[in-house]
Amino acid sequence: QQVKLAATPPMGWMSWNIMSENPNEKDIKEMVDAMVSTGMVKAGYKYIFLDDCWQGGRDNQNNIIADPKKFPSGIKALAGYIHSKGMKMGIYSDAAPLTCAGYTASLNFEEQDAKTFASWDIDYLKYDYCNAPEDVATAKQRYGKMAKALRNSGRDITLGICEWGPREAWNWGAEVGGQSWRTTFDIRDKWNDTDGKGGVGIYNVIDKNAGLASFSGPGHWNDGDMLNVGLKGVKGPSGAFGANGCTDAEYQSQMSMWCMLNSPLYASSDIRTMNETTKRILLNEEVIALNQDSLGKQGERKIKNDTWDVFVRPLANGDFAVAILNKAATTQNAKVAFSDLGLSDKYEIRDLWQHKVVGKGNKWAGKVSAHETKVFRLKKA
Ligand code: DGJ
Repeated sequence: QQVKLAATPPMGWMSWNIMSENPNEKDIKEMVDAMVSTGMVKAGYKYIFLDDCWQGGRDNQNNIIADPKKFPSGIKALAGYIHSKGMKMGIYSDAAPLTCAGYTASLNFEEQDAKTFASWDIDYLKYDYCNAPEDVATAKQRYGKMAKALRNSGRDITLGICEWGPREAWNWGAEVGGQSWRTTFDIRDKWNDTDGKGGVGIYNVIDKNAGLASFSGPGHWNDGDMLNVGLKGVKGPSGAFGANGCTDAEYQSQMSMWCMLNSPLYASSDIRTMNETTKRILLNEEVIALNQDSLGKQGERKIKNDTWDVFVRPLANGDFAVAILNKAATTQNAKVAFSDLGLSDKYEIRDLWQHKVVGKGNKWAGKVSAHETKVFRLKKA
C-alpha cells in the first residue's frame, strides 16, 4: 500500500526557537536562501515550518489572516517563494480558540482554515493543543476534525499533531488521521532532566521514544521535537528551565538518535550563521539516510544498563544500523558483541560519523566519550 503523506519523516527548519514572537517575511526568506546555499535542502530538509505568532486575527468573513506587519506580502506569496526554491511550507495553528502564545487559532473554524491553508499552497500543519480540554476524547475529536478538514481541503497537507504527551497521542494519532505526534513536552537545550530544574532534555526524549517503537512507521511517526543542534547561547524557549546548552557530543547524539528513532528532523537554530560543527552534524547524509530509510522501521533498544543504551534497526537494503550511546559523564570503553543484539552474521562495520569502514566481524570495541553516540552501518560480509 502506497503511503501518500510523510512516507518518510518530514525534514526541515522550524521558526520557534530563534524567532518565537517575531517570525517575519524578511527573516524567513533569508532562512530559505540559507537552507539552499548551505546544502540543507539538498540533504533533505525540504520544509520551512512557520510556527506560532504569524497570525493577525480574522477578516470580516472570518478568514484567518497573517499579521500584515510581519508578512506584508501575505503567506501565499511566501509559500510561492519557498516553492520556487524547491521547498515546501508548513504552518501552525492550535485546537482551541487561541494558540499557546495567545494568537488566533482554529477551533470551530477547522474547515474554513484548512481551505485557507490550501488556498495559500501550504503543505503541512503543526496543530498544537494549548488552551484545550485535558481529556483524551476531546483531543481525539479535535485532531480528527482538523485531519478531515485537511483531507477535504483540495490539497495534500500533512498533519503534525503537537500534543505533548499527557494524552498519549501515539495511541490514537494515526487513527484520527495525523502523520506524526509529539511524545514529550517541549525539548530544552540540555542533555537530561536529572538536575532538578525541570524541562525535557535530549536523553529524556530518547528514553521515552525508545518505548514507542511499535507506533512508528511510514506515514505515522513519533516526533521527538526540534533539534537543539546549534542552539547553544541562543536566548529563547530552548533556554527555559535553566537549560544552558549541550556539548557537541550531545548534539551529535541527538542527531544520531533522532535518525535511529525516525523522528521528524526540525532544525531550529540559525541556518544563516551556523558554524562548522553544526553543519557537520545536521548535514551528515549517512546518518540522515537512516532517518529516511524506506523501510521506516524505528530502532529498538536491545541493551539498557547504567552506562549504555544500544539500539538496532534493520534497513531496506538488508543492512543494519547499530547505535551505542554512552550515558556516563566520562569516556567509557565499549565492547559490543553483535550476537547479543540478535545479529549473528559477520559484517563490514562502517562508522557513520567517521565516514569510513572501521572493521569486519561480529563485534565492536572502542572508546565512546561522555554522552556520545557511535553509529555504525553493518553490511553482511
Ligand atoms: C508549544 C509547542 O510544543 C512548541 O513547539 C511551539 O509550537 C509553541 N507551542 C508555540 O507557541
